[in-house]
Amino acid sequence: MVDLSQSLHAQSIQDPISFWQDAAKMISWDRVPTQILDEARKPFYEWFTDGKMNTCFNAVDRHVAAGGGDNIAINYISPVTQNQYQITYNELLAQVSRLAGYMQSIGIEKGDRVVIYMPMIPETAFAMLACARIGAIHSVVFGGFAANELSTRINDAKPKLVLSASCGIEPSGVVPYKPLLDDALEQASHQVGHCLILNRHQYQASLIAPRDVDWQQAVAGASGVDCVSLQATDPLYILYTSGTTGQPKGVVRDNGGHAVALCWSMKHIYDISADEVFWAASDVGWVVGHSYIVYGPLLVGATTIMYEGKPIGTPDAAAFWRIIAANKVKSFFTAPTAIRAIKREDPDGELIKQFDLSCLKQMFLAGERCDPDTLNWSQAMLGKPVIDHWWQTETGWPVAANLMGVDPIAIKPGSPARPVPGYQVEVLDAMGKQVPANESGNVVIKQPLPPGTLTTLWQNDNRYVESYLSMYPGYYLTGDAGYIDDDGYLYIMSRIDDIINVAGHRLSTGRFEEVLCQHPAVAEAAVIGVQDKLKGQVPLGMVVLKNGVDLSDEDLNKQLLALVRQEIGPVASFRLVSAVPKLPKTRSGKILRATMRKIADNQEYSVPATIEDPQTLEIVRNTLTRMGYANALTKTLA
Ligand code: COA
Ligand code: AMP
Repeated sequence: MVDLSQSLHAQSIQDPISFWQDAAKMISWDRVPTQILDEARKPFYEWFTDGKMNTCFNAVDRHVAAGGGDNIAINYISPVTQNQYQITYNELLAQVSRLAGYMQSIGIEKGDRVVIYMPMIPETAFAMLACARIGAIHSVVFGGFAANELSTRINDAKPKLVLSASCGIEPSGVVPYKPLLDDALEQASHQVGHCLILNRHQYQASLIAPRDVDWQQAVAGASGVDCVSLQATDPLYILYTSGTTGQPKGVVRDNGGHAVALCWSMKHIYDISADEVFWAASDVGWVVGHSYIVYGPLLVGATTIMYEGKPIGTPDAAAFWRIIAANKVKSFFTAPTAIRAIKREDPDGELIKQFDLSCLKQMFLAGERCDPDTLNWSQAMLGKPVIDHWWQTETGWPVAANLMGVDPIAIKPGSPARPVPGYQVEVLDAMGKQVPANESGNVVIKQPLPPGTLTTLWQNDNRYVESYLSMYPGYYLTGDAGYIDDDGYLYIMSRIDDIINVAGHRLSTGRFEEVLCQHPAVAEAAVIGVQDKLKGQVPLGMVVLKNGVDLSDEDLNKQLLALVRQEIGPVASFRLVSAVPKLPKTRSGKILRATMRKIADNQEYSVPATIEDPQTLEIVRNTLTRMGYANALTKTLA
């Protein structure tokens, strides 16, 4: 029997134009689109081509105009500063329109790029919305990235303006952002004209005139401005994500398709409408933060929670449940890592039992594969549906999920359920043939992708086509491997490339290798992601030293760990590295990372026929065992 979610999915695939034309009614248009899907520039598809609208108007002004100005837009909860306050839609409008006014006054116009390097505070959302208001393209850079990563993004996006705060606050203490920004600007070849700096009282940054301007003063002296009417296809933002090389990919999101898709997902997937409370405990620096801390909830007039804290330690493992109960959160979204951290501290859920969680209908998990244990534990402890769902920075909203606002289907732990309407997901073999049910292959999405997904990579159409569209023409390559079972449920098992997922953060092993090779003693490096009970995966490096290097293991480790922290940032969580005499390679010189990973994770592996020196795998195994991995006697396949 076909259920409601299945019939919605079928409609969206058979007649995408009617499906999305209908969905487009969820937003306010300055000019209602008549051209719903434009295929003229295939394989670049455009949605709502002749429509005009403004994302900020839809996320803020229209709710005020409809009488919802006194409703809470943002509820800022910051255990790390012991601060909490609420911002109504009226207040949000005032803040955003004045900040936009200031930006216009210094010459920021439609199409200009603005980099935002900020912590989890409401001003970060104001900054994003102010850009959207005047058609500037924002690019938020996660605060856990180091100066060098920031400067790479500045060079690529070429912003006229950077918005930043003096510091972020982590459980370990104050993390000054401004010195990192100064450093990044000095490293960057692109010259940034203006920086607007929010000085937080925990750390006063010195401002370098005339480039740096104090945020509070600038906004106090600015007048509010109205929204600029934009083409639906104009870019709203660039969000950099890890690719397989050290150069991050600048995912470009449009305005119209994005607003429509997010509104659709808030209602049908997350089961949230105006006035309800939604909380995504992530960071605005990631796509989850863009879509479901800022834009999604505000587009539908709901209340979003901005949480400056962690799942544990700020102050304890009850933080999530305390906030959900106190603020009547209906749908909650976090990463499996966060639940694993909580489970470790509260294995029997004693803290959970202390709160009345009757407001909570369901919890969503994404960002990394959700192991069945984590799902089963949280479901048992909460007594609520726990919904694993799968998506990526590129797609901007879920590709596979249980539609909690439509017709929830049975939960199968280990699976993010079935493809969401709009996405035609298939599993292909290396030759491009669809594999039978239950057999693994490359997970792809048939073009056209639905509204809200990436339109290209920033000023790099070629890389977009090469990375995603060239392997299987007509299909978007997700980079994930998995299978579909007899009931149409999807299982996402691993990446097919060198991307690793550390505590729900996506990082490139290629970037780690580049950094390790910067060390004067290192000739060659290989980095793999190994399984970790808390973070899902952590990076592990092996380096080959240059001839004649005289450095103790301890010193080498210290220096390499510090180098990665300095170059990539603390978010890299890089703690495991060892020197080896030689790396395992094929005769053509390709490092056998997949085999190394299997050995580390105690999986069966076969010695590739093309290996240059089989002895190197023994070296790898022994080294890994010394490092606490590869500690089971696995069979080598013939
Ligand atoms: N600004 C500056 N530094 C940051 C930062 C930020 N925005 N975010 C993280 N860091 C730093 C941390 O302080 C830490 O530094 P340290 O090595 O000096 O302690 C480092 O980056 C690693 O941080 P994190 O990944 O948070 O790991 P942790 O060991 O401190 O905490 C968890 C473990 C499980 C609590 C944490 O990883 C977590 O909350 N995970 C959930 C992830 C998540 O929500 N992902 C979003 C995808 S949906
Ligand atoms: P990011 O672009 O940082 O959101 O990372 C996206 C990648 O994280 C995906 O391509 C997957 O590899 C992984 N991922 C995210 N959510 C899930 C999930 N629910 N199950 C399995 N893998 C996931």
